[in-house]
Amino acid sequence: MYYKKRRIKKGPIIILVVVVILVIAIIVGINLYKHYTSDEYRLGQAGYSEDEISDILKMDRKYIDYAIEHKYEDDFIALVNEKYFIWKNYNEYIKYIDDVYGDKKVDYSLVVSKINTKTNYDPYTHTEDTDMNMKNSILVNKYYHLASDYAPDDIVEMSNWYSYPGNRIREEVYNAFIEMFNAAKEDGITLIVNSSYRTHDEQEEIYNDYESSQGKAYADKYAARPDYSEHQTGLALDIFTPGAGMANFEETDAFRWLQENSYKYGFILRYPEGKEDITGYSYEAWHYRFLGKDLAKKVYNSGLTYDEYYAYYLEK
Ligand code: DAL
Ligand code: ZN
Repeated sequence: MYYKKRRIKKGPIIILVVVVILVIAIIVGINLYKHYTSDEYRLGQAGYSEDEISDILKMDRKYIDYAIEHKYEDDFIALVNEKYFIWKNYNEYIKYIDDVYGDKKVDYSLVVSKINTKTNYDPYTHTEDTDMNMKNSILVNKYYHLASDYAPDDIVEMSNWYSYPGNRIREEVYNAFIEMFNAAKEDGITLIVNSSYRTHDEQEEIYNDYESSQGKAYADKYAARPDYSEHQTGLALDIFTPGAGMANFEETDAFRWLQENSYKYGFILRYPEGKEDITGYSYEAWHYRFLGKDLAKKVYNSGLTYDEYYAYYLEK
């Protein structure tokens, strides 16, 4: 028998092999490219551990990009994950941590709060005009002040039914106080206004009295300097109950009632206990700031001081 020898054509096989190799090379190349340009890889190159990388990958894109572009930063993840972290303040947070903490354990929440409220600076050293466009929401503290000729144009006398003699307040605040007064009365509580709107000169007199009798450091704990007082806005009331004053108002049912209810009428406790480092004032159980019902409720629910709330939610 004679078989014709079949000749295998090599050409197509070579082409096939080359194509397969090319495809494999392309796939490997793409995967390598993906790997070296991935966020995970680049964060690793920046110095972050696997756990840290997985934390960073949960953040907004701009933070991921920052972490990739910069060398490893100790405080980055803890700071960005703080509830009231403000991105534009990042470098200030870092500087404050370096200056204040050194190698000590960092209280990130306090760092964020101090920088946001500018209280990393000494009171009255970094001051600016407050933003009057904020109207009833204006912030007045040791860093944000009123113009010295500022005077609200709707100041009215308060009746002695609601107030000790001689108090004046903005009409809107008066109406809100009357509503609160009546609600408290129904619960068997009597509120009475001890101090209210003050002009620049009246505030100056109060501050000077404290200063001359007790010294500057003491005065600054209890009274605002002129143009830095909420009383000058006509949006603040010092509220007592008959028979109680500054020394003991905190122990009264009236105070407890205000703690639970004042926000419903648009007022917040402005200088709470334990927040002296942020508000700049000694605890004042009697000083209430009118913000209107909506904002007062939000501030109350946040648990923040108004200084902190304003910095995070309202400041432009
Ligand atoms: N006692 C408050 C802080 C004021 O003087 O405005
Ligand atoms: Zn007050």
